[in-house]
Amino acid sequence: MTKHTYHWWQTGVIYQVYPRSFQDSNGDGIGDLPGITQRLDYLKDTLGIDAIWLSPFYPSPMADFGYDVSDYCNVDPMFGTLADFDLLVKETHRRNLRIIIDFVPNHTSDQHAWFQESRSSLDNPKRDWFVWRSPKADGSLPNNWQSHFGGSAWEWDSVTSQYYLHSFLKEQPDINWRNPMVKAAMFAVIRFWLERGVDGFRLDVAHYIGKDIDLRDNPWIPGINLEEHKDHLYMAQNHLYDKGDPYAHEVFREFRQLLDSYSSERPRYSVGEIHIFDWKHWASYYGENLDELHMPFNFALMVAPWQPQSLRQVVDSLEAVLPTGAWPNYVLGNHDTPRLASRYGKENVRLAALLLLTLRGTPTLYQGEELGMENVDIPYERQKDPYGLNVPGFGRDLCRTPMQWDATPTAGFSSAPIEKLWLPLAGDYQQVNVQVQSNQADSILALYRQLLALRKTSTALQWGDYQPIDNVPTSCYVFLRLAEGQKLLVALNFADQLVVLDLSTLGSGNLLVSTELDRQGRIDLNHLNLRGHEGVVISLSS
Ligand code: GLC
Ligand code: CA
Repeated sequence: MTKHTYHWWQTGVIYQVYPRSFQDSNGDGIGDLPGITQRLDYLKDTLGIDAIWLSPFYPSPMADFGYDVSDYCNVDPMFGTLADFDLLVKETHRRNLRIIIDFVPNHTSDQHAWFQESRSSLDNPKRDWFVWRSPKADGSLPNNWQSHFGGSAWEWDSVTSQYYLHSFLKEQPDINWRNPMVKAAMFAVIRFWLERGVDGFRLDVAHYIGKDIDLRDNPWIPGINLEEHKDHLYMAQNHLYDKGDPYAHEVFREFRQLLDSYSSERPRYSVGEIHIFDWKHWASYYGENLDELHMPFNFALMVAPWQPQSLRQVVDSLEAVLPTGAWPNYVLGNHDTPRLASRYGKENVRLAALLLLTLRGTPTLYQGEELGMENVDIPYERQKDPYGLNVPGFGRDLCRTPMQWDATPTAGFSSAPIEKLWLPLAGDYQQVNVQVQSNQADSILALYRQLLALRKTSTALQWGDYQPIDNVPTSCYVFLRLAEGQKLLVALNFADQLVVLDLSTLGSGNLLVSTELDRQGRIDLNHLNLRGHEGVVISLSS
């Protein structure tokens, strides 16, 4: 196939911006939209990504830092104005980058006008826009569903003496997507942003919009010790009924038609946050006729043990299950997940970069990972994330600390005094930052730049086939990427020690990238040395 059959969301690399922590432009210690605009040149020219995805910037009481939206069609003053957003879109497009925004379909904020109306009386026209239930006859909760963030998923509301459902915080009431008026209102929101020029949407907890019509109890995981899980019973259930109901597919088909109706001038895109690890079920969100989401986010690599067989197993099983014509994707980090350097160990960060950017499918890269940022250990009193405050150990602040731009006192993130930053800076920001790493040939940033540049010019990396290689040392993961006219070998060694691979059937090749710097030129594949945690991309001669 030739390039023109692939779209930007297939050939490109997506970069996730967490607006609160990317760049503060007005000195209040919190990142904002003008800040992102100021940093576009970094993303385009220094780093070399193709599209940005913005976590929520909508008006919000910030109970869940923007994932509790009180107005879907505006910008929170903390982040700027709609005019700032328009300028960001314009500047993004001027650089030939795409912009994807977060859409939060499962819940609003309890401060959203829709919920305020809904809760006001039993016969309010918007009553049914949310999920309200009376207690059972014996006075107990409507069912056994749990909040992902701890505690029951039902909150008593004394105004009308009923419970409302919240799959996350009680400040995030769940929307009733079975109500056609709600669906129409939500699709109007989508149109609003498409008209403003956005190229796509990331759908927050997408499959949660499908809930069992009878709200049946979830079964408990057989044999689970409830006492052990008493602080987080959510983890003790099989989530058969509180999310993933087939009704979601119906909504996604309509949603896709809406996106497609805007795609003639340029393709629009959607990716759903769908934590499902049964491949068949997961793949169903592409739609039977590829008529639902462009892709469900693939989190399988992110949760797999950092070990060559497990990682290969994820990739091979994805390749095996993908519906014909569906496009794969990979992600290793995001604003909900500990940093790569802390999860895999610093010695593996370079290998992780090489893996993510050479697999077949769209990579999504989380801000700061290109510097090898580590988790920041934040004392409980300074933590902000409600998840971690409710269920200690589950906090996500550690990966949401300010981006590290330079070695000045606030890392170039803000002009506010350091104690005013919304979250503390990492202790190592004077060494680990964009400015320092831009000048270091052996920095993690330099490696990301190199890999991103290679991906831009390599047909094999952009859309070539994936073919794993068997009979390699157990510490290695080796695969080919094959496009017409280009054959690449990717080889990764996960061990601490050197291994020697005999790949003589592949002949010889030229080194394109190594996680180590001291290597270049011709490589004889009957004797390929890989040092501890080294990964290479080699262009094969035949
Ligand atoms: C998603 C978001 C997370 C948020 C949750 C509730 O998992 O990524 O940050 O807290 O949904 O909206
Ligand atoms: Ca600000």
